[in-house]
Amino acid sequence: MRTPQIMAAVLLLALSLGAIDLRADSTGRDIYRQYCATCHGLDARGGNASTLFDDQWEFGNRPEQIRAHIVDGITDMGMPAFGPTLTAAQIDALMAYLTAMQGQAAPPPVRRHQEARTLDYRLKIAHWIPAEAGLRTPWAIDFIDADTALVTEKPGRLRLVVKGRLHPDPIRGIPQVLHARQGGLLDVAVDPAYADNGWIYLGYSHEAGFSIPSPAMTRIVRGRIRHHAWTDEEVIFEAARRTYTSSRHHYGTRIVFDAQGFLYFSIGDRGQQEQAQDLSRPNGKIHRLHRDGRIPADNPFAGRPDALPSIFSFGHRNPQGLAIHPQNGTLWALEHGPRGGDELNRIRSGANYGWPVITYGINYNGTVITNRRQKEGLEQPIYYWRPSTAVCGLNFYTGDMFPFWRQGLLVANLRYRDVRLLSLADERVIHEEVILKDYGRVREAVGGPDGAVYVVVNKPDEILRLSSRGQAPQ
Ligand code: HEC
Repeated sequence: MRTPQIMAAVLLLALSLGAIDLRADSTGRDIYRQYCATCHGLDARGGNASTLFDDQWEFGNRPEQIRAHIVDGITDMGMPAFGPTLTAAQIDALMAYLTAMQGQAAPPPVRRHQEARTLDYRLKIAHWIPAEAGLRTPWAIDFIDADTALVTEKPGRLRLVVKGRLHPDPIRGIPQVLHARQGGLLDVAVDPAYADNGWIYLGYSHEAGFSIPSPAMTRIVRGRIRHHAWTDEEVIFEAARRTYTSSRHHYGTRIVFDAQGFLYFSIGDRGQQEQAQDLSRPNGKIHRLHRDGRIPADNPFAGRPDALPSIFSFGHRNPQGLAIHPQNGTLWALEHGPRGGDELNRIRSGANYGWPVITYGINYNGTVITNRRQKEGLEQPIYYWRPSTAVCGLNFYTGDMFPFWRQGLLVANLRYRDVRLLSLADERVIHEEVILKDYGRVREAVGGPDGAVYVVVNKPDEILRLSSRGQAPQ
């Protein structure tokens, strides 16, 4: 008998003896919904973590092992410890619920409609790179020109799309990445002067393999693509090895350029939240560099002996979205926060965004991080989401196809599996609209050179193209 069946048998026996009354089952479900569903998914499809309903136990399938993971967490993986917050009886109820739910896993309902309607436009939804093309966990897209795009796949492949066709072979010779949990090949960015210099930037999880589990950190390189191969590689940012950590989550890793040509990129706190406040460490920061990796002389901490000179802002948890305002050149960031604390921030030089000193969220295991939401000297978000939608990529829309969306922000959400359009007035969000939902977990949504919106989704692994079928009647 396999473990879940043993657990089910024990549960049935306990029920028939009246040792557990049926309310325990619904309690288990409630606890699951409150504490686990944010990561493991509300139904069988999973979310930021794998589903617990599919009878697959990567970390051991004996009930005492599963229980230990709930009580002690799997800290390096981002699985919080619930021992401090749940009683033994609550964990019993959870275990019973998990047992009852085994085998309920089903593929997520995914919409395949070719049309949708938003407040302002009727949309055509094309499966631009459909699941059948074989992309694996696409993470980011950037356009070289009107016909050519580059797409990263998290397992460590860089793909070329020409005129809407995925080139069958990945680009040869890109750096080796650490593909584990949230880590892998993450962002790709095309140099603003690409036509003259041919530079392409990659951000990825870099492994310093001298111990097990090996320490890792975000690393930025640039190179050129010639004859479908990666060449001329230069390291633009590499952190000191002593700052690498063995955790496998919170890498941040988004790259953008401002109008002056400075390069900004983000690194998450790597699961070491207090280090987001430590200016001698690269994690939990947004960095600013010249595109060749040199430190700009006017960086806020340049010349300070106790700080890394590349730091532009700090106190970040996991900023996975960065965007430059198309008109005034300001930097904006989306921060994947704790439970109930996803944020949109306007990033200022030298400013402290407060993590983990202030936050609107609480830990995913329900413990309080801090009761402070505001503090003198610490920045407030422009906007925050509670419940957390699991924000990822961020892009300003500047195209011609959807004039009403211009200067709006396209927000990609993983857990809520949607794309939102935020309308801004100066630095205020004055409206939020879900423009696409349930086509997959959204990594980023970006306006392409043709004005259409390209949406990178996972599960299924696709790139969608949203185009206008005309204005929607009011
Ligand atoms: C903050 C996100 C998060 C929350 C909240 C969370 N988990 Fe997890 N959990 C993870 C991650 C990440 C892993 C490891 C990777 C994976 O399974 O996807 C994990 C793994 C596990 C495992 C081991 C799975 C296996 O395959 O062996 C169990 C059991 C588990 N979680 C139970 C729970 C339960 C029960 C709750 C609610 C009380 C919960 N988790 C809440 C993130 C979370």
